Amino acid sequence: MTVTREPSSAAPRPGRHSAVRSLLRLWPYVRPVRGRLVVGALSAVVASCLGLLIPLTLKWIVDGPVAGRDPSGVWLGGLALLVLGVAEAGLFGVRRMIVAGPLARVEADMRAALYARLQRLPVSFHDRWPSGQLLSRATTDLMLLRIFLSFPLTFLLVNGVTIVVGCVILLQQRWTLGLVLLAPVVPMVVLCSVFEERYARTARKAQDQIGDLTTVVEESVLGIRVIKGFGRHRGQERAFRALSWRLRETELRKAGLLGTLWALIVILPELAIGAALVLGVVEVGDGELSAGTLVAFLSTALALRWPVESIGFLLAITNESATATDRFFEVMDTAEASAGDAVATAPVLAGARVKDAGLRLEGVWFRYPDAPEDAPPVLCGVDLSVRPGETMALVGATGSGKTTLTALVPRLHEPTAGRIVLDGRDITGLSRERLRELVAVAFEEPTLFSASAAENVLMGAPDAGEERLLAALAVAQAEFVHELPQGRRTRLGEQGLSLSGGQRQRLALARAVIGEPRFLVLDDPLSALDVHTEALVEAALREVLATTTALVVAHRPSTVLLADRVALLSRGRIAAVGTHHELLHTHEEYASLMSGPAGPEGGDPR
Ligand SMILES: Nc1ncnc2c1ncn2[C@@H]1O[C@H](COP(=O)(O)OP(=O)(O)OP(=O)(O)O)[C@@H](O)[C@H]1O
Ligand SMILES: [Mg+2]
Repeated sequence: MTVTREPSSAAPRPGRHSAVRSLLRLWPYVRPVRGRLVVGALSAVVASCLGLLIPLTLKWIVDGPVAGRDPSGVWLGGLALLVLGVAEAGLFGVRRMIVAGPLARVEADMRAALYARLQRLPVSFHDRWPSGQLLSRATTDLMLLRIFLSFPLTFLLVNGVTIVVGCVILLQQRWTLGLVLLAPVVPMVVLCSVFEERYARTARKAQDQIGDLTTVVEESVLGIRVIKGFGRHRGQERAFRALSWRLRETELRKAGLLGTLWALIVILPELAIGAALVLGVVEVGDGELSAGTLVAFLSTALALRWPVESIGFLLAITNESATATDRFFEVMDTAEASAGDAVATAPVLAGARVKDAGLRLEGVWFRYPDAPEDAPPVLCGVDLSVRPGETMALVGATGSGKTTLTALVPRLHEPTAGRIVLDGRDITGLSRERLRELVAVAFEEPTLFSASAAENVLMGAPDAGEERLLAALAVAQAEFVHELPQGRRTRLGEQGLSLSGGQRQRLALARAVIGEPRFLVLDDPLSALDVHTEALVEAALREVLATTTALVVAHRPSTVLLADRVALLSRGRIAAVGTHHELLHTHEEYASLMSGPAGPEGGDPR
C-alpha cells in the first residue's frame, strides 16, 4: 500500500506557451515597484558600462605615460582606475538597496493573493488538487519568482547592454579582431534556443515533482497515526524514495543540460579570444597595431566574459520562473465560484409568503464534477421541506449522499439542477455573507485549527461575547475546556489532535450553535460520544433545536429522536418522510437501517 496519489495527474495543466508571454503576466504585481526596478536596472547598466571604461583607461596608460615614461601620468591613470572601480561597486550596491525591499513585498503580495484565491475557490477545486501542489506553488515557486525579479530580470538587460556596448568598443578598436571575437555569436544563439526548449520542459517536470513530493510528505505527516498503526512506514518510505529518486533524476537532467550549455558558452568565446590574441600579437609585431590598443581590446574581451557566461544561468532561472509563473496562474485563473455570487439583493420569489418559510429542496440533482462519466448522480431529484422551527433528521445508508446533501445548503457545492430555498429565497440569490449568517454547519469530521479552544468556537460568530461563548460551550457539553491547562485560552495542537474525538466533536458543535443561526445543518454531530455524554448533549441540543430550523444527519435512533420528523434518503431520492415511529412501522428499509437486519422490534431504543 501507498497513500500516494497518482503523481499530480489531478492538477490540470494547460499547454506551455513562450516564457516571455508567461512572465509578462507578472506585470500587475510588479507594477507598484516599477519605478524602483527601473532605477535599479539603470544604475546597474551604468555600473556595468563604467566597468568597460577600465580597458580604455588601460589603453591610455599603456600608449601614453608608459610609452612616454611619465610616472606621474601612471599615477593619475591608477587613480582613475580606482575611482571607476569604486563607482562600479557602489552603484551595484545602491541597486541592491533600492530593489531588495520592494521585491520582498511583491513576493508577499503574490503569496497573499494566492492564499486569498485558495480560500475562495470552491470545495470541488480542493477535491481535485493535491495539497502539496498548492503548497509548493505558494513556497518554492514564489521564492523563485522573487529571485527572478531581483536578479535575472535586471541582469539580462544589464548584460545585454554591456555586451552590445562592449562589442561596439571592440569593433571600434580593431574591427578585424572584433569580427573574430563575434564569430561564436551565431552558434551560441542557436544553442540557447535549443536549450530553452528542453530546459523548460525539464524544469516544469521538476517543479511538478516537488509538488508531488510535498503531497506525500504532508499526507504522511497528517496520517502518521494510520501509517504507524498499520505498520506502513516501510511502504511509505519506499513510495517517498521512489518519488524523490524521480525528482533527483529530473534535477540531474537539468544540471546536465545546464552543464553542457555552460561548457559551450565558456569554450566558444575562450577560443575566439585565443584566436584574437594570436592575430593581435602578430599585428603588433608587424607594427600595424599599438600595444595599448591590443591591451584595451583584450581586456574589454575579458571584461565581457562574465556577462556572456552568466547568460546560461540567467536563461535557466528565467525559464524556471516562467514555469513558476504558469503554475501560479493555473491556480489564479481557476474560476472562483459559480455565478450569482455577487448578487447581494436577494430576489424574493414570486408568491413568497410566510408559508414559504423554512428550508426547502426542490428537485435537487447533484453529481460530483470529477465523478466518472458513467456513475449515477449522487442525488437525483430530492424534494424535501423542513418547516420553520422544525428539526428534520436525515437518515440513509452509508454512501447514500447525506453529507453531500448537507454540503449543498451552505453552497460548498452547487446543485447540478433544482434549487434550495431558505425562507422563500433561492440561496443562489443570497450573498455568501448573508448565507453564512443564516446557516451554521457542523461536519462529520470535526475540523479544528491550531488556535485556542475559544478562538475555534468563536469562528462561528467572531463578534459573540464571553456570555454567548460560555452558553455555546454549555450546550455542546464542551465544558471540559475549562479544565485544560490554560482554560479556554489553551492552544489546541494542529487540527486539534491533542483532543479526543468526542471532545473535538463537541467543540465543533459549539462552533455551530454559537451564532444562533436560523438554520442549523448538523452532519451526524454526536457519533463519537459515549452514551452518557450523548444524552447530556442531546438534552442541551434539544433547547437549541427548539429555536432553529434544523437538518440533522443521524445514524443512531437516539439522534433521530431529537427530530420532529425523519426523511429517508435512498437511491438519490427522499423515499419517505414521517415521524420515527411511523416510519419504523411502515417502512421496511428504514426499520432495517435503524435496527439492523433483525427487524423493527429492536429498532426503538427506549
Ligand atoms: N468529493 C467527492 N468526489 C466524488 N465523489 C464523492 C465525493 N464525496 C463523496 N462522493 C461520493 O458520493 C456518494 C455519497 O457520499 P456521502 O459522503 O454524501 O455519503 P453519506 O451518506 O454521507 O455517507 P456516510 O453515512 O458514510 O457519511 C458516495 O458514493 C461517494 O463515493
Ligand atoms: Mg456522511
